[in-house]
Amino acid sequence: MEHAIEIRGLRKSYGRREVLHGLDLNVPAGEVFALLGPNGAGKTTTVEILEGYRERDGGEARVLGVDPGRATSDFRARIGIVLQSSAVYPTLSVGELLELFAGYYPSPREPGEVVRLVGLEEKRDARVRTLSGGQLRRLDLGLALVGDPELVFLDEPTTGFDPAARRRAWETIRGLRALGKTILLTTHYMEEAQALADRLAILRDGRIVATGSPRDLLDGHTTVEIRYRSGVEEVVLETEEPTRVLHELTADALAAGRELDSLQVRRRTLEDLYLELTRDGE
Ligand SMILES: Nc1ncnc2c1ncn2[C@@H]1O[C@H](COP(=O)(O)OP(=O)(O)OP(=O)(O)O)[C@@H](O)[C@H]1O
Ligand SMILES: [Mg+2]
Repeated sequence: MEHAIEIRGLRKSYGRREVLHGLDLNVPAGEVFALLGPNGAGKTTTVEILEGYRERDGGEARVLGVDPGRATSDFRARIGIVLQSSAVYPTLSVGELLELFAGYYPSPREPGEVVRLVGLEEKRDARVRTLSGGQLRRLDLGLALVGDPELVFLDEPTTGFDPAARRRAWETIRGLRALGKTILLTTHYMEEAQALADRLAILRDGRIVATGSPRDLLDGHTTVEIRYRSGVEEVVLETEEPTRVLHELTADALAAGRELDSLQVRRRTLEDLYLELTRDGE
């Protein structure tokens, strides 16, 4: 199978309000795909339709070759899910909960391995209700992986993670990719998308406004930003010829015996592109 996920003309309304206006999307098997977009853009709605947890109102969807609107237990065993908000069993311990979930799958991972994978070794015997927010989120990730799924849906998997935990989660996600799994994730962290995604789509008000690899999306934009401080004023220049502009700036400063304070040269980032494409009123 070429694509783990195929979507054509996907539509969804809540009441009379349409929130997905005909999405087209392919996620090749074995890739990490990031769905980006502002709050309310329709990411969770899309992901939950693909997981078989919400009904679509129009269009076609195939997930691992199956229509998620007719999801069977067989289909559910092949996917792993981190929901945006999770409700777990507060009185079980971390280890017990993973054991419980492992029991739902035909060929689960060993729960002890999953505990290590998400960095909860020291919390293995702790009750779920005593975990911190970030630790709970790590447990959510563990619960998505315990069934050893082919396809993993991660809806904001690292929200609330400390920087070290986030890096660790990235390593886990890369590890899944190396095993040939497909990962669809949503995130509000552009550096996360940049670090992980083979491809991404930016969603705005229920429409895809850009799709491609991070590199392809940024390649069309060769502008470089140069910043420095002149007295109390911050000078910002955008140029397609950074070599020439920098040469002139530094030559002038040298001739005048001045320093270009706080000099920075910066390429456009995914965050710049994202902010442009999702800005209100465009
Ligand atoms: N169960 C629901 N009933 C009615 N409206 C809903 C429901 N779920 C989502 N919506 C609306 O659909 C739109 C898309 O919501 P969705 O949760 O898919 O956004 P999102 O992109 O995941 O946002 P966030 O980044 O905040 O998680 C929003 O306007 C939201 O208010
Ligand atoms: Mg969401």
